[in-house]
Amino acid sequence: MTRTVVLAGASGYGRTYLQEIAALEAAGAVRLAGVCDVRPLDAEGRALAGDRPFDTDLGRLLDRTRPDIGIVATPIHTHLPLARQVLGAGAHLLVEKPPLPTAEDWRELVRLGRAADRVCQTGFQSLGSQAVVRLGRLMAEGRFGRIRGIGGYGAWSRPNGYYRRAAWAGRREVDGRPVVDGALTNPFAHMISTALQLDASTGWDDVDAVELELFHARDIQADDTSCVRLRTGHGTVVTAAVTLCAETAAAPVLMVYGTHGHATLHYTTDLLAFDGMRERHSRTSPLQNLLAHLDDDRVPLQSGLDACGGFMRVLEAVRTAPDPLPIDPAWVRHSDGEHGDGGGDDASVQVIGVEAAVRASAERLATFGELGVPWAPAPASRP
Ligand SMILES: NC(=O)c1ccc[n+]([C@@H]2O[C@H](COP(=O)([O-])OP(=O)(O)OC[C@H]3O[C@@H](n4cnc5c(N)ncnc54)[C@H](O)[C@@H]3O)[C@@H](O)[C@H]2O)c1
Repeated sequence: MTRTVVLAGASGYGRTYLQEIAALEAAGAVRLAGVCDVRPLDAEGRALAGDRPFDTDLGRLLDRTRPDIGIVATPIHTHLPLARQVLGAGAHLLVEKPPLPTAEDWRELVRLGRAADRVCQTGFQSLGSQAVVRLGRLMAEGRFGRIRGIGGYGAWSRPNGYYRRAAWAGRREVDGRPVVDGALTNPFAHMISTALQLDASTGWDDVDAVELELFHARDIQADDTSCVRLRTGHGTVVTAAVTLCAETAAAPVLMVYGTHGHATLHYTTDLLAFDGMRERHSRTSPLQNLLAHLDDDRVPLQSGLDACGGFMRVLEAVRTAPDPLPIDPAWVRHSDGEHGDGGGDDASVQVIGVEAAVRASAERLATFGELGVPWAPAPASRP
């Protein structure tokens, strides 16, 4: 069955949807019914959208096109109003991650989806990896013994241009509305949702005792170098230690520790390593999985909105936490970029020794403070 799709947000990350829809359209799986963006499309966007209706107002476009599916790939604080319009028009929903900026918004959208009897998928694409499915099964079968912990670490570098691309980038709120665009809740959101999925702890009540350490090396509202530790209902300790101010960027990793073995998952590249073996797996995109689920409801939804409770609990803890602490400038280095003055879009900020700190956190399931990381106050001396 060929389903019709409307896309809201066609630049930035939404461009990947425009490209995916074009590929799926060529295969006869979907038909692009229309595109909504508050800004005009660039040449590539126009070429991908072709002669389909374009509108700056999603409600008007939905009235005109009545699609089967509405995709929302816009800034986080616009998700709820746009998702409401999608469901109100009788369409199934695919909303990007993080799905909503508050727990209350998440509960409301889950309720609206159920009341409308529509399927709500999220854009947590790592959950469509067969590496995650395989590792989750191995854990459940006891291959690694009793699971003690899951530790994640990630070190990426985001240059000035990342923060300049949008008014909401690196913000905790915009015009009084929560955004929660910090390292843990947005760029590394997949790390948290994937760890919770592996532990089969995706519900709100599955997550407890959320400890946070939020820092920023850049002069931004949100965190760029952070650590979270929580305990799940199964007794698993889950940590994620991340930075967007790496000296040397590398793909993020989740490590699973059991009483009889361990495994390493590279969740952005579908690579799984355990018992001296390395396996490369395939993945299904959130849109492909939504289409398969709509065709046959025996195909489980891989990243459904109602299975985001555990993640939303962490996001809510970050949203309501005190502001991130600035990292002592003695531990921060500035790379000036091509123009040599530090003001260009390619200039970046690095926290000295941060790769070792995030990795040690994951290996020991410890917070920065417990590790004695020099720019993180020891637990007892925190305000
Ligand atoms: N799954 C992933 O790996 C991944 C990666 C990056 C971003 N994202 C998510 O994708 C979403 C978009 O992020 P981005 O960085 O592309 O944002 P962005 O600010 O660049 O905006 C994306 C597009 O949405 C448009 N837009 C803004 N408000 C709109 C509105 N009210 N109606 C219609 N269009 C509107 C913008 O003009 C832009 O073209 C966010 O939720 C983000 O967290 C997901």
